[in-house]
Amino acid sequence: MSDQRTCPYAAAAASTTGAGAPAINDRNSLTLGADGPILLHDVHLIEQLAHFNREKTIERQPHAKGSGAFGVFETTEDVSAYTKAALFQPGVTTEVLLRFSTVAGEQGSPDTWRDVRGFSLKFYTSEGNYDLVGNNTPVFFLRDPMKFPHFIRSQKRLPASGLRDATMQWDFWTNNPESAHQVTYVMGQRGLPRTWRHMNGYGSHTYMWVNDKGEKFWVKYHFHTQQGLKFFSNEEATAMSGVDADFHRRDLFDAIERGEFPKWTLSVQVMPYEVAKTYRINPFDLTKTWPKKDFPLIPVGVLTLNRNPENFFAQIEQAAFSPGNTVPGIGLSPDRMLLARSFAYADAQRNRIGANFHQLPVNQPKCPVNTYMFDGPMAYHHSGSAPVYATNSFGRPWSDQTGPVENGWEADGAMVRSAYTLREGDDDFSQAGILVREVMDDAQRAALVETVAGSLLDVKEPVRARAFQYWRNIDADIGARIEEAVNTASI
Ligand code: HEM
Repeated sequence: MSDQRTCPYAAAAASTTGAGAPAINDRNSLTLGADGPILLHDVHLIEQLAHFNREKTIERQPHAKGSGAFGVFETTEDVSAYTKAALFQPGVTTEVLLRFSTVAGEQGSPDTWRDVRGFSLKFYTSEGNYDLVGNNTPVFFLRDPMKFPHFIRSQKRLPASGLRDATMQWDFWTNNPESAHQVTYVMGQRGLPRTWRHMNGYGSHTYMWVNDKGEKFWVKYHFHTQQGLKFFSNEEATAMSGVDADFHRRDLFDAIERGEFPKWTLSVQVMPYEVAKTYRINPFDLTKTWPKKDFPLIPVGVLTLNRNPENFFAQIEQAAFSPGNTVPGIGLSPDRMLLARSFAYADAQRNRIGANFHQLPVNQPKCPVNTYMFDGPMAYHHSGSAPVYATNSFGRPWSDQTGPVENGWEADGAMVRSAYTLREGDDDFSQAGILVREVMDDAQRAALVETVAGSLLDVKEPVRARAFQYWRNIDADIGARIEEAVNTASI
């Protein structure tokens, strides 16, 4: 296929049309006399205008603002007792793409607005692409996917004014108290990372690992930054959002250009398969962490980012990550949020990029592909005259495994609409309270009070009163301090 890199006119330092012929002139349109009207058969002008009208694609619904870089993951430890996945065998190195993002802001929004940050990894493994699409916090606001579109809308903009609105945000959070743990993280330091290099990443959900004996384990992923955790204060972040809306994007790109390659250490918590059945909290509830004293961190390897994108649009905007992309030795779990996500992402990408998004270079696996998906807009790869159907009699392989799937689990029961069955340790506020009392220090608690009180100042009743109660449920003292700070400021 000829493109502008190989076309002789491009090589002669002139531009070409999309069809590769000389473009003639990029500064003057074709007109009838120097002062006359332009002519419709100026194919080059028409092509430029028409393509320009189509050069934006839909932004991601959540996580629209972000950037990323390529790098490598090296498995430095032996975790083969837990997974047979090729990428996690000792000494294996795997090329990766990591995209960071904010959640609620649109494409041009400031990087330093308070928010959760996305941490999306694509491992180009020898067994197909493995995507781990997580955040810089180990938990999430919700545990049922039915609520997700409502949640995202409540964090975005009002229908009439197009403005963001604290009442709407707190209305959603306080009506859905399972959000308390994640809201406490976001209102704390994690909501304002200083750079993407100075924050951790988490898989957040519980996933399955399967070893070569077919034994199953539940795992949670933790990527700890080797640059150290650093945060912005409210004042610094607000100032930076005006000075440089792209501060995080710039910081990562510049650091990699300087040869300062950021690194993260991957560790996992492993829960034996059977233990999950009786553990005191539901291990598949995305609003909960697993105590490290019960499930200590087991080191796995090191992630390094060492290569900037050559083209932001082609390699970052068109990157398509999906929690549904797993490889042998890794599986999903009964976490219903994760199961819904395994559908939602590829569906968004068919809409956002096109049905053949997986054929784009950034999304292509680095291993051979033999898929029975054909044609469609912008089909780039095809299988020639090979049979387009399975089963066939002409030698094109198809898959035919039957019986229990190796990364499945048991489930039975009548179809219901219901919350998860509660276990003895399951409630919405305990872990948020531990975060406030045992993880935060006095300065962080004071900053939390100031941040929450500040965000509640313009919140309307009855939401504001409910927010005071929400914080009292997390921690009585913090709740009282927030209420007092708001009331004092309101007078
Ligand atoms: C039912 C729950 C959820 C649904 C339906 C959902 C849906 C989506 C959709 C449709 C996108 C845009 C995908 C694209 O256009 O390429 C997205 C992006 C993203 N989501 Fe979710 N999401 C959910 C929960 C979560 C959770 C729990 C996390 C983190 C633990 C998360 C992290 C992300 C990240 C990091 C991105 C950006 C991906 C990228 O960098 O391209 N989401 N989500």
